[in-house]
Amino acid sequence: MERTAIFPGSFDPFTRGHAALVDEALNLFDRVIIGIGNNTAKRGLLTPENRKRLIDDFYAAQPRVEARIYTGLTGEFALGVGASAIIRGVRNTTDFEYERTMQAANQRIYPTLTTVMLFTPAVVADIASSTVREVLAFGRTVEEFMPEGVDIEKYL
Ligand code: PNS
Repeated sequence: MERTAIFPGSFDPFTRGHAALVDEALNLFDRVIIGIGNNTAKRGLLTPENRKRLIDDFYAAQPRVEARIYTGLTGEFALGVGASAIIRGVRNTTDFEYERTMQAANQRIYPTLTTVMLFTPAVVADIASSTVREVLAFGRTVEEFMPEGVDIEKYL
């Protein structure tokens, strides 16, 4: 049976750190669906459509990865696309606390879904979308944070 996982997040923007997690997830699952969701606590830089376009362009040659925009609960989205797992990355203890709370809520509501927490590789564990947004706001380029070859200017 084909194993599908969703990798949900705001992806505003998708970074080198996210790409490293997708690489790891592809070792565990046949398909990874990147779900662009709505974190009500975060301000937007890219429109959801442009976040998706950036990811679609980056994975144009990788048929096992696709991006979708969703609204509502992440668990509903996961079940709707036939996924058995929710992938999340953890960089540090701050992430851990937040992830633990979300995992517990999702497990309570959707007991058939498993949250798979992956450690972000140490070489990219400093990268955060919020940092990218801040550096950009000060007029500096951000290619060091972006997946190889991605020019964020095309998606702003
Ligand atoms: O990239 P982020 O900001 O860490 O992504 C967070 C996101 C969008 C995955 C999270 O806020 C989310 O799942 N939102 C949808 C509502 C939901 O299902 N919450 C978890 C159960 S309470």
